Amino acid sequence: MPRKILVTSALPYANGAIHIGHLVEYIQTDIWVRYQKMAGNECWYVCADDTHGTPIMLRAEQEGIAPEQLIERMHGEHARDFAGFGVAFDNYYSTHSPETREYANEIYRRLKAAGLIETRTIEQFYDPLKAMFLPDRFIKGECPKCHAQDQYGDNCESCGAAYAPTDLIEPYSAVSGAKPELRSSEHYFFKLSDPRCEAFLRRYTSRDNGALQAEAANKMQEWLGAPGENRLTDWDISRDAPYFGFEIPDAPGKYFYVWLDAPIGYMGSFKNFCTRQGLDFDEWFKPGSETELVHFIGKDILYFHALFWPAELAHAGYRTPDKIFAHGFLTVDGAKMSKSRGTFITAASYLNTGLDPEWLRYYYAAKLSASMEDIDLNLDDFVARVNSDLVGKYVNIASRAAGFIAKRFNGQLAPVTADLPALRAIQEAAGRIADLYEGREYGKAVREIMALTDAANQYVDSVKPWELAKQAGRESELHVACSNALNLFRLLTVLLKPILPALAAKVESFLAIAPLIWADSASLLAGGHRINAYTHLMTRVDAKQIEQLVAANKDAPPAPAPAPTAVAAAPTPPPVATAPLCTIDDFTKVDLRVVRIANAEHVEGADKLVRLTLELGNGETRNVFAGIKSAYDPATLVGRMTVMVANLAPRKMKFGLSEGMVLAASDDSGQTPGIFLLTPDSGAEPGMRVK
Ligand code: 2FM
Ligand code: ZN
Repeated sequence: MPRKILVTSALPYANGAIHIGHLVEYIQTDIWVRYQKMAGNECWYVCADDTHGTPIMLRAEQEGIAPEQLIERMHGEHARDFAGFGVAFDNYYSTHSPETREYANEIYRRLKAAGLIETRTIEQFYDPLKAMFLPDRFIKGECPKCHAQDQYGDNCESCGAAYAPTDLIEPYSAVSGAKPELRSSEHYFFKLSDPRCEAFLRRYTSRDNGALQAEAANKMQEWLGAPGENRLTDWDISRDAPYFGFEIPDAPGKYFYVWLDAPIGYMGSFKNFCTRQGLDFDEWFKPGSETELVHFIGKDILYFHALFWPAELAHAGYRTPDKIFAHGFLTVDGAKMSKSRGTFITAASYLNTGLDPEWLRYYYAAKLSASMEDIDLNLDDFVARVNSDLVGKYVNIASRAAGFIAKRFNGQLAPVTADLPALRAIQEAAGRIADLYEGREYGKAVREIMALTDAANQYVDSVKPWELAKQAGRESELHVACSNALNLFRLLTVLLKPILPALAAKVESFLAIAPLIWADSASLLAGGHRINAYTHLMTRVDAKQIEQLVAANKDAPPAPAPAPTAVAAAPTPPPVATAPLCTIDDFTKVDLRVVRIANAEHVEGADKLVRLTLELGNGETRNVFAGIKSAYDPATLVGRMTVMVANLAPRKMKFGLSEGMVLAASDDSGQTPGIFLLTPDSGAEPGMRVK
């Protein structure tokens, strides 16, 4: 009986481009799904854009468009990128859909009826300028531990400390710059701490249940704590307006938190597919369903998928996932992907640079296993491996045999040699390789397939068709040798097809055969079968293409070398360590204006600040607090011209609102103490733009 399997990959956020880090998961899942389909199972692969939440709302606002417009555009880009890499979803949908809304409401209603929803008043930071509550990531300030500036509200990137946003020193809103205020608001919680949830999750996440990889199961049991020591805390599933998401049905002004409806988006996407396809959704999602539900995710979102999600489903009367397969992160050349190094490579840039997407599919497959270990894309190794394995070994078999069949034998094959060891070896390995695909041990599968490819090449080397072709009277030996080679090539193509679907399609058309399925690994092409003319199957990777790709993803062009000067050699001072490069577009975002200091005064109670009233032209003035008291007597500043940042988000300070910033120089090394206010050349007038 064929299995019925519903497969998902994590839903990418609708506010960023797909990059090669994302692709690890989509390629991993796509290979698995393609294998299942080839094996004759009914397997559906659905996904969607994850469209809700504050970052998406703010990004749309920044772009001056509605969130609906932003998510529509991103949906088009994401779908295009995935298709470009051969990731073949049966449905690629959106969480901002009627189906997802319906299941979110239904799950909420059922959890509430089960007594698992509770409201509680909590205190949270609020941005008084933007009139919105701030997620932790949108609050910044000084780290309470190492005192690094401008750290996020949940953890410090400098020392790694984790804390609550209320622990930050001098917190400010990363949205407006305003000082956040603590305000209270009623929130909705899913009672994960309820004994029913705990009992369910202990069972669900146990190693015996087998839904999780052993390492993930151990981690979850750790999070649950020892029996009796319930460590689970209730999960806050609501957010206050303004929020881009689904409003909670019986709670006006309250919205489902994006992570509540994100996994429900799996159901929404599948429901949408079922409606169009005439499938019975309930058969797949009812408790005790005979079908399988399999989620591929990154290890960073295990908590959501292994705890919240199954607990929601179980207590809302739906089936739970059979398997949650977590993978590790991607590094490039041994390090985190980096925009400044050009290794934060977007899917679109890869495709636009003209690289073959199947090179990456193959490389990832060769590196992937069933574990949660990180994988490394080593760019030199990528070039070497693709060229050696795919072009040098696999494609080589066909290119050495096909020409003779076309030219000498009218495109027709001879019957294969009975019991040819290289052929038998592949047919015997097919079952083992199927198990490796099933078990997500793609690296092992690739190693085994490459060993079989080596054996196939050894066969061709031993029979030397190019020599047979030169010798009179050896036509039939040549015919058999080339037919054997093409049969070897066809079998290897079956085994590689989940990884290289586009290449396999070219092979199918060249060999004039129906789309290959797994069972084809047991059969051979009959004598007399006529093939088409050989067409080029795959080119080699040129290291220059990789250089281009990295250059295309570098954040900013390298600074030009300084012009040589005629001045006699002087001892070279150490280079000035400037901030990372920015583009001219980045720079022009900062609106610098000439201003006249109309008034300057001491600020009662502030030992560093001077209050400046700045004339910006056209009668407009700005109030700015400047930390220049140690260097300037306010009285000497009045009437002076300087330069201000005129579009800095206003910042609420203890002494009032600061509506900008004046520019001053100082020596960070401390060798030349002091603060030096900038002055424009004479003739400059208030309001002139500095650029
Ligand atoms: O971490 C992320 O990128 C989320 N957008 C994944 C959501 S997966 C699922 F739950 F929707
Ligand atoms: Zn710190």
